[in-house]
Amino acid sequence: MTIDIQRAGQIDRESLFHPFTWISDLNRDGPTLMSEGRGVRLKDIHGKEYLDGMAGLWCVNLGYGRKDIVDALAQQSAKLSSFHAFNSMSTDVAAECAQEVLKHAPVPMARVFFGVSGSDANETQIKLIWYYNNLLGRPKKKKIIARQNAYHGSSIVTSGLTGLANMHTRFDLPLGPILHVSSPNYYKNAPAGMSERDFSKQLAAELDDTIKREGADTVAAFFAEPVMGAGGLVPPPEGYFEEIVPVLERHDVLLVLDEVVSGFGRLGTYWGSQTYNLRPDLISAAKGITSGYFPMSACLVSPKIWDVIEKHTDKAGLFAHGYTYSAHPVGAAVALATMKAIDEEGIVANAAAQGAHLQRVMREAIGAHPLVGNVRGAGMMIGIELVRDKATKEAFPAANRTGRRVLQAAAERGLITRALGDTLVFAPPLVATQADVSELIAIFKDSLDKVANEIL
Ligand SMILES: Cc1ncc(COP(=O)(O)O)c(C=O)c1O
Repeated sequence: MTIDIQRAGQIDRESLFHPFTWISDLNRDGPTLMSEGRGVRLKDIHGKEYLDGMAGLWCVNLGYGRKDIVDALAQQSAKLSSFHAFNSMSTDVAAECAQEVLKHAPVPMARVFFGVSGSDANETQIKLIWYYNNLLGRPKKKKIIARQNAYHGSSIVTSGLTGLANMHTRFDLPLGPILHVSSPNYYKNAPAGMSERDFSKQLAAELDDTIKREGADTVAAFFAEPVMGAGGLVPPPEGYFEEIVPVLERHDVLLVLDEVVSGFGRLGTYWGSQTYNLRPDLISAAKGITSGYFPMSACLVSPKIWDVIEKHTDKAGLFAHGYTYSAHPVGAAVALATMKAIDEEGIVANAAAQGAHLQRVMREAIGAHPLVGNVRGAGMMIGIELVRDKATKEAFPAANRTGRRVLQAAAERGLITRALGDTLVFAPPLVATQADVSELIAIFKDSLDKVANEIL
């Protein structure tokens, strides 16, 4: 390393434009600079160790520093470091990777389109949906419905699809024909006394009304994460998708499942589609496809969509969409090694077992804690919402930065979490052992106690 460790923080602060960072926090507290990773643990430049409770940004599912993945990456880089897939070109490894992704698909899928990020995957899906409806002679059927608090990316159109106000305000977004329906957050949004099932029915009725109001001939698709992630970690209430899907089918509205986080094992099934028994028309994947070792995304396209695109090829001409790094051979080699490890090491079964432990023991440990209003999640995704008043669910004033205080207390104790406002979230690597998960919960409880002592 050539950078002076003592000055690295200052150099970072003066040079790097950080994504999703409050600049005044960075200027005041400085950055945390990681320099090494092994398994579920990270080490910062000063040698302090952390348990990574977030697998990076819910992506390093196989943990850090795996020799098999690093070897696959290095060998492919040495053999053919870069090539593309435009104009009928490809590579042996990209072809094999596409075949493997389709083999692992939750429902029969016809083709897979590769990109480099979750945002570009969802952007591609929107273009595919518009293209498909144009080919079918339905030029008005273009509107896309997402949910408030959804997270689908931060490119121009996907920021709009994302239902978070701070990604719209001051960026002049949303852009394009995008609508939002209510978030399925039962804790926050269900009327007092309403059952989960009735709340799901209410949300399905709202979707139905929205489509009817807009006109079904103008609504093309509905986007959903199986479990909402960055928008507050929200699992669907009971019966949610069972109620929503018939509405979509009735109005011929496509279901796009954003499996950027849930794909490749996070919910204890290979796909969230399997957890919730869904048959999406399009699936977006990224993150876990390479366990974060290489930027890569995938759009899985159902026969329903592909057949229309293929049938109209002579009329439509060139399919004019793609990225220089679509089907990158190094990404493909890393994805192949990742899928092999997931299969051979029983990673999905481990995620199911440790996920059940995480959900149960976290609730036992902190469910009744004075700061905690709600614990929710599924598989290896859990969110803990802090409230000032448990009975009324009243939030702490935003200016108190209560979530950030807990995050900092956890970091001092060697645990990485993420604060989505006052909801702390965990999505540990899927290779975490039961002991790792228990350690995570114990450190988190201690961090909550520290903040409770300070503010209550
Ligand atoms: C559900 C979901 N979709 C899309 C994205 C965007 O992915 P990326 O940051 O790779 O563009 C994310 C990122 O966290 C995500 O959680």
